Amino acid sequence: MIHSRIAGTGSYLPKKILTNAALESMVDTTDEWIFSRTGIRERHIVADDEFTSDLALQASLNAIKSSGITAHDIDLIIVATTTPDKIFPSVAVMLQNKLGIAGCPAFDIQAVCSGFVYALATADNFIKAGAAQCALVVGAEAFSRIVDWTDRGNCILWGDGAGAVVLQASDQPGIISTHLHADGNYEKMLHVPRQADAKVKDTVVMEGNAVFKVAVNTLDAIVDETLAANGMQKSDIDWLVPHQANIRILQATAKKLDMNMDKVIVTVDKHGNTSAASIPLALDIAVQDRRIKRGDIVLMEAFGGGFTWGSALIRY
Ligand code: COA
Repeated sequence: MIHSRIAGTGSYLPKKILTNAALESMVDTTDEWIFSRTGIRERHIVADDEFTSDLALQASLNAIKSSGITAHDIDLIIVATTTPDKIFPSVAVMLQNKLGIAGCPAFDIQAVCSGFVYALATADNFIKAGAAQCALVVGAEAFSRIVDWTDRGNCILWGDGAGAVVLQASDQPGIISTHLHADGNYEKMLHVPRQADAKVKDTVVMEGNAVFKVAVNTLDAIVDETLAANGMQKSDIDWLVPHQANIRILQATAKKLDMNMDKVIVTVDKHGNTSAASIPLALDIAVQDRRIKRGDIVLMEAFGGGFTWGSALIRY
């Protein structure tokens, strides 16, 4: 049987950093309030002339380099994003063009903050089916472009960035299992409605408190589902690489797994919530600093607008 495994990782963050202190001069908030409620200290923000495909390109080049492949080896590109440069073409096709590798299939996946897990599951299934051998899987967001910077209960959360992995066919699993879910009953709790007036920007609308509670319960359930599907115990997991929404949500999942926080990869303090980019960004940082090593069992999980949620259990 063909499996897929992560050959290498890469990430990229825009240069500009927006600190909580800087946010204090934009909305009625404090560094202390933001940090105590979310664990966030700062986030990166794209420049005016920088777009999701630019972030995706830099993360992809880093992932290609760390994988020891060339861009021409890639035969599938999937980009998870909520903030494409344009309505169309997709970021994946723009990224393909920037990489100079026209020809292979390339498409975006829209599952908001769960997007990377959805994209990884899709690429894994392409490879298992024999339809691809070397997939570039990216999570990239310029989320700051869809944030209402006057809404203090919301704008403090988000950041921009990109992460990427190269997924290659292998005779050993790599990706052990993936689990995806969605429930559109929760559409209005976290969404970006289309404004009737084309001059008004479409921005995130969120019932933060309600989202928080559903997220914690749903992530508890996906942890149980993933362990049960593989006949594994909590103690079998070496690392948790969660979607970085709020440190209190991460702590709740770690508690569910009886896991110390030093086994949880945390980037929310420095990145905020980068939506589909947060998991591959966190994974790359922990691979680069050698916390996550070859052979380690890593659980990735995410929850996002829709609601969508999912997990990927991997042997790195
Ligand atoms: N600074 C200071 N005060 C703020 C504030 C800010 N940035 N934002 C909200 N407040 C105030 C509110 O107005 C409210 O005041 P009131 O009690 O006088 O009405 C109070 O703080 C509590 O607001 P609440 O919304 O209940 O706070 P909270 O503890 O739920 O924290 C979030 C708000 C958004 C940080 C939190 O709900 C959260 O992180 N939710 C999950 C969101 C998320 O992760 N979404 C993405 C999922 S992928």
